[in-house]
Amino acid sequence: MAGKTNILILSFIPNGRWAHSSVLIDNKLYFKGGNKLSDNSNEGLTNELFYLDVSKPFTTTDNVSITWINLTYTDGPLKGEATSCIGGKNNDIIFEFGGYSPPNQTNQTFVNQFDTSKQQWSYIESVGPGYRQDISCAKFSSGLIAIFSGLSDPYTINDLWIFNTLTLSWNLSNAVNSPPQRFGYCAITLPNENILYIGGRKFTDFYDNSSYMPMNILPLYNTKSHMWTNMNISGPIPPIRTLFSAILTPDRRVIIFGGCAKGVPLGDLWILDTVVFQWSIGRILNSIEGLVLCGHTATLVEIYMIVAFGSFVNGSLSSKLFMLDVSQKDSYRWVNEFTTNVTFPNNTIISDFKISNLSIGAITGCVIFLAILIIAVFCYRTYKNLRHKQLQEAIKNMSI
Ligand SMILES: *[C@@H]1O[C@H](CO)[C@@H](O)[C@H](O)[C@H]1NC(C)=O
Ligand SMILES: *[C@@H]1O[C@H](CO)[C@@H](O)[C@H](O)[C@H]1NC(C)=O
Ligand SMILES: *[C@@H]1O[C@H](CO)[C@@H](O)[C@H](O)[C@H]1NC(C)=O
Ligand SMILES: *[C@@H]1O[C@H](CO)[C@@H](O)[C@H](O)[C@H]1NC(C)=O
Ligand SMILES: *[C@@H]1O[C@H](CO)[C@@H](O)[C@H](O)[C@H]1NC(C)=O
Ligand SMILES: *[C@@H]1O[C@H](CO)[C@@H](O)[C@H](O)[C@H]1NC(C)=O
Repeated sequence: MAGKTNILILSFIPNGRWAHSSVLIDNKLYFKGGNKLSDNSNEGLTNELFYLDVSKPFTTTDNVSITWINLTYTDGPLKGEATSCIGGKNNDIIFEFGGYSPPNQTNQTFVNQFDTSKQQWSYIESVGPGYRQDISCAKFSSGLIAIFSGLSDPYTINDLWIFNTLTLSWNLSNAVNSPPQRFGYCAITLPNENILYIGGRKFTDFYDNSSYMPMNILPLYNTKSHMWTNMNISGPIPPIRTLFSAILTPDRRVIIFGGCAKGVPLGDLWILDTVVFQWSIGRILNSIEGLVLCGHTATLVEIYMIVAFGSFVNGSLSSKLFMLDVSQKDSYRWVNEFTTNVTFPNNTIISDFKISNLSIGAITGCVIFLAILIIAVFCYRTYKNLRHKQLQEAIKNMSI
């Protein structure tokens, strides 16, 4: 039986995709959905669900060494440009929010959940945010997930909703002074449980810089007082972007990579020190020629930022993993070898990194700890496949 399972496991190598979502639970880096065609048409949508087993070493350049497990048989919903966060009593449930589906998709709900223990999907009927896509969900506190704005009709929706993954109920935030509508941004929950919103754009002229969110003024949502503030970020300002990735390290660096602006994929790395709220350029010691990606995901596993899938500049979709060693504050290095049990040097751990506020077992390992705090952020592209008729019409006039 075990032998048979192994044969099935080894035979699965995912092909290129983008606009998927990804979450880390224990030693499993899950990937769900997205689109296998660069034009983002309904035909390219996939409901594939699989995970990368990060309990074992692997080499990114040797596809046979990578343990992928195909869970597509669980028959999840067909969705592109959705976002996923983890929740539930044991933090073992994947909640998938928003996104677009083909018109004939049944069981289309704003939230679907995949119970990783039971390996079972279910659809959640609840009264919450209306249809929207290109959100970046942010988990905070005990089983709560924030959903802000997104690409929707009308294009001005800038509401913030809080989903309770224990009761499966929604609350609309009554915060005033919400920042403007946006999509294709990244949300990061800081250790004090404030949520930082980075980048993205609003639904106006694609080629106009003012459609893009400024990178030097970032909205921060306080999940305790339910108030918005704007953080002014010092240092050099990263170029505007959507559909990029962001992770948080234990020493509170937010690391953003790639994305696209005006349809052009980017390959730059920027570091936001959230202790002093300052940007700096990420110095990559061994940059990879031509590595620009849009609509990829990035997740911190140990000291490695695992960048998965996405669109290259030539429009072909990546089936690869790229791995950046982010253990050093001042220099970054692409590596091929994933080694288990590699931890951040002591001097990069900030002692009051609050684990106590999080509803996770005290005896869980570093990886779970990171899974909760440092969740991949999901960034997505612009679309021709929205279900809302008006939006669909308007979108036709947008180029990618
Ligand atoms: C796996 O890697 C080999 C060698 O680089 C390559 O020939 C093959 O096409 C790859 N398979 C897939 C499915 O990507
Ligand atoms: C993954 O699983 C699905 C559902 O069982 C199957 O249809 C598909 O062929 C599998 N993919 C690969 C590459 O084995
Ligand atoms: C999908 O919808 C049908 C009809 O409403 C329902 O019978 C079925 O149980 C649903 N499937 C799931 C997995 O919820
Ligand atoms: C929603 O609001 C009610 C009443 O203020 C509160 O009891 C409940 O915990 C809130 N739920 C969430 C998910 O924030
Ligand atoms: C628009 O933004 C890009 C990237 O940030 C910048 O290089 C360019 O100079 C800006 N153009 C204008 C007209 O401000
Ligand atoms: C597109 O670019 C990627 C990354 O540089 C490269 O690996 C791939 O072969 C290119 N595809 C085509 C069709 O040129």
